[in-house]
Amino acid sequence: MSFELDVITLFPGMFDALAQYGITGKANRNNIFQLSTWNPRDFTSDNYRTIDDSPYGGGPGMVMLPQPLDEAICAAKKKQAGLGINRAQVIYLTPQGKRLDQELATRLSKLPGLILLCGRYEGIDERLIKNQVNMEISIGDYVISGGELAAMVLIDTIVRLLPGTLGDPQSANQDSFSCHLLDFPHFTRPEVYKGDNVPKVLMSGNHAEIKRWRLQQALGRTWLRRPDLLAAKIASGMTKEEEKLLEEFKQSNKQN
Ligand SMILES: C[S@@+](CC[C@H](N)C(=O)[O-])C[C@H]1O[C@@H](n2cnc3c(N)ncnc32)[C@H](O)[C@@H]1O
Repeated sequence: MSFELDVITLFPGMFDALAQYGITGKANRNNIFQLSTWNPRDFTSDNYRTIDDSPYGGGPGMVMLPQPLDEAICAAKKKQAGLGINRAQVIYLTPQGKRLDQELATRLSKLPGLILLCGRYEGIDERLIKNQVNMEISIGDYVISGGELAAMVLIDTIVRLLPGTLGDPQSANQDSFSCHLLDFPHFTRPEVYKGDNVPKVLMSGNHAEIKRWRLQQALGRTWLRRPDLLAAKIASGMTKEEEKLLEEFKQSNKQN
């Protein structure tokens, strides 16, 4: 069964980028996920198809009206219920939400589907959020103009984790953030580029040594670039081998 995504958005065309290109495009063509969009303008009743109004209390910008969003969400929920997905989770993409990370994406990828709500302008009437939204997610501590790009980031992260999306399922396991580590460095042809050699161990054909070197690089990079991640790795428990590899990396880093 494919992962069911329903997106509430004023700009449905933006999602073509995700549904047509690259890995997510292929996953879409292979029915690993289904993506439908719901435009709140289609749920308005006035001639102008109004979806926003000025904020109570004054101030700059406009706020999205609750009623068209409410009806769009209900229509998406009804569709998902028809597919056997009861109590579909509604996620509002907002800078005020829980920060997206690999762990959260992994958790969401286990669900049968999601309804994603994209805000615009100053945001959405708070009562709609209170009554219809199950979770608020942010893609980082910065503000973008609309929830569409944030929803696409979330969808891409989830789709990569769905069975069948990546040719080699191992790819996702060795990506950065799985097991609290950054990925190791990668090299391809030519063997020498502008006088710079590919590390010898990668040419050795010794798979155990290559695996060891990669783990050491992942540990070392995480130590150098993301001490917060390394602390999480240590808290989750390191093997004796990992401790030894990291210590060796630290020593060689001091010498260089
Ligand atoms: C200009 S923003 C509104 C920001 C809002 N006034 C605030 O400060 O919290 C318009 C929409 O973009 C989306 N958005 C902006 N930044 C985001 C982020 N970091 N993560 C997720 N969504 C974001 C939200 O859907 C938001 O409703």
